[in-house]
Amino acid sequence: MNRRDFTSTLASATAALALPRAVRAGTPAAAPSPLVNGVRLNSHLAALSEFGRNPQGGVTRLAYSDADRAARAYVTRLMREAKLDVSVDAGANILGRRAGTDAALKPILFGSHIDSVPEGGNYDGDVGSLGAIEVAQTLSDAAIVTKHPLEVVVFQNEEGGLWGSHAMTADLTAEELSTPSRSGKTIREGIAFLGGDPDKLARDRRRRGDYHAYLELHIEQGATLERERINIGVVEGIVGIRQWEVTVDGFANHAGTTAMLERHDALLAAARLIEAVNRIVLGTSGRQVGTVGRIQAFPGAPNVIPGKVVCSLELRDLDARKIAVLFARIESEAKKIGEQNGTTISFKQVTENVPAPTDPRIRALIVAVSRELELTFRMMPSGAGHDAQDVAQICPVGMIFVPSAEGISHAPKEFSHPKDIENGANVLLHTLLKVDAAPLAP
Ligand code: GLV
Ligand code: MN
Ligand code: MN
Repeated sequence: MNRRDFTSTLASATAALALPRAVRAGTPAAAPSPLVNGVRLNSHLAALSEFGRNPQGGVTRLAYSDADRAARAYVTRLMREAKLDVSVDAGANILGRRAGTDAALKPILFGSHIDSVPEGGNYDGDVGSLGAIEVAQTLSDAAIVTKHPLEVVVFQNEEGGLWGSHAMTADLTAEELSTPSRSGKTIREGIAFLGGDPDKLARDRRRRGDYHAYLELHIEQGATLERERINIGVVEGIVGIRQWEVTVDGFANHAGTTAMLERHDALLAAARLIEAVNRIVLGTSGRQVGTVGRIQAFPGAPNVIPGKVVCSLELRDLDARKIAVLFARIESEAKKIGEQNGTTISFKQVTENVPAPTDPRIRALIVAVSRELELTFRMMPSGAGHDAQDVAQICPVGMIFVPSAEGISHAPKEFSHPKDIENGANVLLHTLLKVDAAPLAP
């Protein structure tokens, strides 16, 4: 599908959800104060973009790489400047604490991530992480002390499968810890590389009731807000994501002497599988998406019939049952494809992130703050995964989106306007202050 087709599909899918249209603020009240320093925030974003910078723009800052570690040191310095008490938990998440007036209250957690996909952009995760630090800095500058303690978090390895928030909110198994990451290190090695302690994860594991709430500011990563000229997205829910490693076993043989009908070509079977994934996912109404984003053929020579292929499969939807149904169809189609040319296709699940609704009370507070700041807003789902979906397992969560230019993300051309970023950080700040005053039950 080309970009235009994709956009119109998204538009009709959004219309089908009958989401409320943009709402303009009512009677202007006195501007809320304090406000974040947008120039400072955007200059911090520019400085962060130097870590893992690519010549074509954007960054490759894979979790557990040297660039990741150096960027974390920079972010730690910003957190200290914002008078946060910084530590790294056992899962290698960076935490910056600030005391509240009532130490008996549970902390409010807020932040995002700073690792990137290969050849990614400068905004995904960075806006929410540096936005959270800017909020802490603004509170410090204005000498405002909240009732609840505050914790700014920079989660590790969001892009590889929400590993930092998994480690914080669930027990990682030995098998999960030995999962390889894109950096070449396993999750266990990566956690140690970043200063965590994979043998002490239980010590820092958080449970339901340990936090008052979690807030995350993020770029939309789609084109809805820009197309509708809306300032703020109030996220209603985050899609579930399941990823598999798919192995196709065939038989490597001479590409010149093996007749076409005698081949067990693993790459041909993989190509048919990719087409089937697309057909099956498109064959049901709804917003579900399915992607094969990585593929490798072995032995990988022009004159050898591929004997083995390893590729990825990813399915996303707001409904976990729908993902399960789609996967069952893909598995059964894979069996038929294998039978056609004497190959076998097997699936090993590598990650599962459950779908998560955001807390309706926090959504209402984001709406109230948007009105106060005279920003337009709309409700919307998140098609991208976020650490917020893990944290939703232990406390109420809210997510604030700001527009992404042309809806481009996970790419060097990812861009959000400085003013939109400043708006989002102000919404984060004032939502935080309202959440501080709100009696949210866990
Ligand atoms: C995270 O960025 C994801 O949606 O893959
Ligand atoms: Mn992100
Ligand atoms: Mn991302």
